[in-house]
Formats: sequence, C-alpha cells, structure tokens
Amino acid sequence: MAQSKQRILVTGATGLVGAPLCVALSARGHSVRRLSRGTKGDYSWDVSAGQIDPAALNEVDVVIHLAGETVAQRWNTAAKERILRSRVDGTKLLIDQLVQQAKPPAFLCASGISYYGISREGHLDESATSGDGFLAEVTRQWESAVQPLVDVGGRVALLRTGIVLSKEGGALAKMLPPFKFGLGGRIGSGTQMMSWISLPDLVGAYVFAVENDLVQGPINAVAPSPVTNLDFTKTLGSVIGRPTLFPIPNLVIKTLFGEMGQETVLSNLGVIPARLQQLGFEWQTPSLSATLRTTIYQD
Ligand SMILES: NC(=O)c1ccc[n+]([C@@H]2O[C@H](COP(=O)([O-])OP(=O)(O)OC[C@H]3O[C@@H](n4cnc5c(N)ncnc54)[C@H](OP(=O)(O)O)[C@@H]3O)[C@@H](O)[C@H]2O)c1
Repeated sequence: MAQSKQRILVTGATGLVGAPLCVALSARGHSVRRLSRGTKGDYSWDVSAGQIDPAALNEVDVVIHLAGETVAQRWNTAAKERILRSRVDGTKLLIDQLVQQAKPPAFLCASGISYYGISREGHLDESATSGDGFLAEVTRQWESAVQPLVDVGGRVALLRTGIVLSKEGGALAKMLPPFKFGLGGRIGSGTQMMSWISLPDLVGAYVFAVENDLVQGPINAVAPSPVTNLDFTKTLGSVIGRPTLFPIPNLVIKTLFGEMGQETVLSNLGVIPARLQQLGFEWQTPSLSATLRTTIYQD
C-alpha cells in the first residue's frame, strides 16, 4: 500500500471522469492539484505549445493523466489530429519533465479498450494483442509515450477504460432520451459485445491505483461482465420501464457518425478486468441492472 495522504496532480480534471475523481481523492484526504488548459485549474498547460507550469510537478506523489480531445465528434482529418496529438504530445510533455526528477511520481494514465481494436472474438484480458482502427493506433501511441518513465523504474499504470456509464455524459447520456420516449432498440444485430463500467467504479479504480503500489502496467477498467448490445438494450428498457422495439440499422450509425460510429457504437469488444480482479479490487455495482438503476435514479 502507498503512503496514506498523497499529493496528486490531475490533468483533464474538469472532464466527466476527472471532476468526480478529484472530489473522491480529496474526500480520502489526498491533496489534489488540477492541471488545466487556460485558467480553470490550479496550474495551467498548453499541450500544443509544449508549455507546462513548472511548479505543477513539484513534489507530487502521483500524476493522473486524463486529458485528451473528445473522441465523440465527427472524425475529419483535423479532428483525428487533435485526438491523437492531445494525448500523445500531452503525455510526452509530462513524461519528459518527470524522468528528470530524482524520484519520479507514479503515473496513472487513461487509455481505452479500443487498444484491442474494433471487433474481436472471445474475451480479452490485458495480455490480448492490440487491434485495428484509428483509436487502436491512438492508444498504442499514447501508451508508448509513457515508456521513458517505465525505463527509469517509475510506477506506471495504463487504465484501458471501457464505456463509462453516466447520466452526465458519454454513451448512456445520449441513449437515454430516445429510450425514455420508447424509441430505443438494439443496434444492428445486437450481438456485438459492450464492455462498460459505472462512473463511480471507474473513480474507485483510480483511487485504488493511487493507494496500491501493486497497480501497474495495463489495467482493463471495465465491469467483470461485458454484455451484448441486445442485453444492454433490454436491461436499459426494463430499468426505465419502456419498450425497446426500434432496432437501429448499422447503416444509420455509419451515416450519422461515420468512422467514429463504427469504432465506438458498433464495436465488438468483450473485455475482462483480469488484473483488477487479481489485485482484489471490489466493484460497487458489478451488475449492469444495478448500475443503470443507480446511475439513472440517484443524484
Ligand atoms: N468517458 C469514457 O467513456 C472513456 C472511455 C475510454 C477512455 N476514456 C478516456 O479517459 C479520459 C477521461 O475521459 P472523460 O470522459 O473524462 O473525458 P472528457 O470529459 O472529454 O474530459 C477530458 C478533459 O481533457 C481536457 N482536454 C479536452 N480537450 C483537450 C485538448 N485538445 N488538449 C488537451 N486537453 C484537452 C479537458 O480538460 P481541461 O479543459 O481542464 O484542460 C477535458 O475536461 C480521456 O482521455 C478519454 O479518452 C474515456
């Protein structure tokens, strides 16, 4: 176990994951600094200009790196460049500074299950190879950017995150309005696997990683049981008490969202959190129905 109170720098602290994570870390007695673009945080940085407030990294025990251009947009050439560069260059900027420290902090870096590609058969644990697609390439480069810190003996964990379920943003927030109007339904055949995690459990996984020195290397941050899109659809319909009779054809997703839709909404990845299970992490809501009930009906 790591020392009890830690000084933690969080990038992307204003985001869907970062905001509740900072609250949870502070509630456990840790001291949190937020590194943001502009003036929103305690320290500022500008990834595209290669600038970071030098005081931000003074005497920190842990860096949690979440920042990155949103993936949920149409992927033209410029958007793809922003998605890639914000993650890879942001990570390099931090790592370049950290490797110069006599005792570098632990580095907990967001990554995505898209590392495993777009569509894979069977269950994927952390030993699975990387796959096809733009996001797989982004995550490979993002993860590789931490290597200089690993080479000097730093503790680095890569949280390959699944679909984060929250009312505030992400996939579920977009699905809820049509489902509430009774217009929900499976996507395509509905057989594609969805690997999800509740926002509180993802926050819990980061807190666990802060406080447990054994957490390092690739970590699948997902719930223990991935489900098919059809199961997800039926469970969501049952939790909100609405029919789910309107399937959405793959073509509609491809037309509306292009390549982004193909690599996210239509992806087929059954990811298993083998490392978190080995390390003894306990999920608050391991079942999908409990997660959806809690997420939708609790404040
Ligand atoms: N949510 C998911 O379902 C999910 C799934 C897999 C992986 N992840 C990864 O987990 C991380 C956190 O996810 P999230 O949902 O919290 O993301 P988010 O809500 O989009 O927040 C990301 C944060 O990154 C910063 N940011 C945005 N654009 C940037 C840019 N161009 N350059 C530098 N910084 C930028 C912003 O913070 P400031 O404005 O404070 O700088 C923003 O609040 C992301 O890297 C994401 O790719 C998320």
